[in-house]
Amino acid sequence: MQEFFDANRRSWDERVAIHAEDETGFYQVAKVLNGEDKLNAIEAREIGDIAGLRIAHLQCHFGLDSFCLERRGADVVGLDFSPAAIAKARELAATMQLKTRFVEGNVYDARRLLDGDFDMVYVTWGAINWLPDIAGWAKIVGSLLKPGGHLYLAESHPTTLCFEWVDGKIVPHYDWRTPIDKPFAADDPTTYNGSQKQLRNKRVYEWIHPLSDIINSLKAAGLSLAWLHEHDALTWDLFPNMVASENGLYRLPADFPQLPLSFSLKAVKG
Ligand SMILES: C[S@@+](CC[C@H](N)C(=O)[O-])C[C@H]1O[C@@H](n2cnc3c(N)ncnc32)[C@H](O)[C@@H]1O
Repeated sequence: MQEFFDANRRSWDERVAIHAEDETGFYQVAKVLNGEDKLNAIEAREIGDIAGLRIAHLQCHFGLDSFCLERRGADVVGLDFSPAAIAKARELAATMQLKTRFVEGNVYDARRLLDGDFDMVYVTWGAINWLPDIAGWAKIVGSLLKPGGHLYLAESHPTTLCFEWVDGKIVPHYDWRTPIDKPFAADDPTTYNGSQKQLRNKRVYEWIHPLSDIINSLKAAGLSLAWLHEHDALTWDLFPNMVASENGLYRLPADFPQLPLSFSLKAVKG
């Protein structure tokens, strides 16, 4: 398993500089540096009032969403396994004089690495596809929460992740459930923010987790589902025919068959 984590971490370490430089504006770094909010329309609508909550932001990348949560009044700690991401997040926190703390480490070590219990665990957009063991992840989430605390998860929809753009069409390409020890490998030459900078560390390993596995794993870890939403929008253009829509979201063209592009859920520790 470590070889998969190591390859992914190398790729993430390299992507951080490209994402933080933000030549395409995808990450809206300037907006955050300017004191503004960058949460997209889905989570901005769904997370509710988080003022005063203690939040663990898992797979926080270089911290932009963590800062938006802090600016909504939360006490936030971000965790990511990329040293480059954590270094950039700490640098940005210092620049903006924000209090969010950042911890370097693998999600599977989060309980050991983060002090205390949390009102909310926040996980969004391109996070669980990097994790082999969804049941193990759910246990970690449960162990971080106070009784009555909750997970907010917003992610690409696993059904749609099974499709790939091939010769101008969206076609089935990946199995709907990826075995823990057999991730699918990808070798994208560039990262997803639209930059044409070539990656040296192209090889990454990913997993697709069906909705039932996610929800049943959370249930087994002592969380109950408060709500589940499916959306016809996503935070990045998974397929080349997707078009930019409101507030950081992308959609399929209106005259194209609509797919469930993402989902979000709230699960409460019992
Ligand atoms: C697409 S980003 C998540 C985006 C994030 N929600 C944000 O606020 O920008 C995925 C992140 O997951 C991190 N990551 C991937 N696998 C991980 C693991 N096993 N443990 C901790 N972090 C991981 C990567 O370093 C990367 O920063």
